[in-house]
Amino acid sequence: MQEKFEELRQRAKQELCDVTSSRALFELKSKYLGKNGEVTALLRGLKDVPAEERSSFGKMINDLKVEISAYFDEKEILIKEKEIAEKFEKEKIDITLPGKEQPSGSLHPLNIVKNQILEAFCGMGFEIFEGPEIDNDYYCFQALNIPKDHPARDMQDTFYFTDNILLRPHTSPGQVRTMENKKPPIKILSPGRVYRADDDASHSPMFHQIEGLVVDKGVSLCDLKGLLDEFVRIMFDDETKTRFRPSYFPFTEPSVEVDVTCCKCHGKGCSLCKGTGWIEILGAGVVNKKVLEMSGIDSDVYSGLAFGLGIERITMIKYGISDIRTFFESNVKFLKQFNRR
Ligand code: PHE
Repeated sequence: MQEKFEELRQRAKQELCDVTSSRALFELKSKYLGKNGEVTALLRGLKDVPAEERSSFGKMINDLKVEISAYFDEKEILIKEKEIAEKFEKEKIDITLPGKEQPSGSLHPLNIVKNQILEAFCGMGFEIFEGPEIDNDYYCFQALNIPKDHPARDMQDTFYFTDNILLRPHTSPGQVRTMENKKPPIKILSPGRVYRADDDASHSPMFHQIEGLVVDKGVSLCDLKGLLDEFVRIMFDDETKTRFRPSYFPFTEPSVEVDVTCCKCHGKGCSLCKGTGWIEILGAGVVNKKVLEMSGIDSDVYSGLAFGLGIERITMIKYGISDIRTFFESNVKFLKQFNRR
């Protein structure tokens, strides 16, 4: 029996010498010490040994087990060290090499400007309300004092699904939906896509507007002027001046169109401003009393102001872009110019 133990000890030692990887070590370990291993089998065979020899045999097998385990532990440390060294060698990087540039995307110019506009007004206490893009005739027109068959509907060439359901041609229905659901004081912005049957270098069938609405006691045209002057100062610069021109919208009375001094020629007159020195940026006015009343607001107590601007238009003016279609062509060369990284 003793020879058998000796042979096993020598064989385990020898085989261990040839092992060079953790995987092989694991397999060899289970061959000797695993559940079905040779040493384990010896221990299991103890029950067949005559009772008087069992204890001394048991001790010998145990000593053998401890000894072989120690060989394995030693070898395991050596193999781990070797493998770590190999891994370091293989994964070595040269930190003096120049890095590879990771191309990064950026916000679309319309989103950049939209965020700037929202930030400018939110800084003045406005909240954001988004209405549906598919709306009905009442919210898009009637509640804004544009009755059916009224010629004012020609101001927006509208896409209709049915006589009553349409793609909103402006964000003004946002005013009505807010006033129906919220008691004054109201101070909201309604941004979103709008649709009109219009398509040329300065008109797109889909474009983006932001509507603003303030309703409170004592709100007047003066407040509108102060608010928009401040907006222009934030969006453009201190030198840019504003001009209010009388205009007409059925939902505001009085109505104005707001111009800014041309950012290219600073008011002298150039091709961008068609020689006038001024560029129109938005429509606005004092909310028509009829509109307040239709939405359930007492026009003897409250008054309001509203404005609506096109994000494309402001972006074109700000960055000197002459064709609205460039925004929607997904031309990376064009879009990359706005990556401010
Ligand atoms: N809804 C108008 C348009 O789309 C803009 C506007 C909004 C004008 C609010 C006045 C007040 O042309």
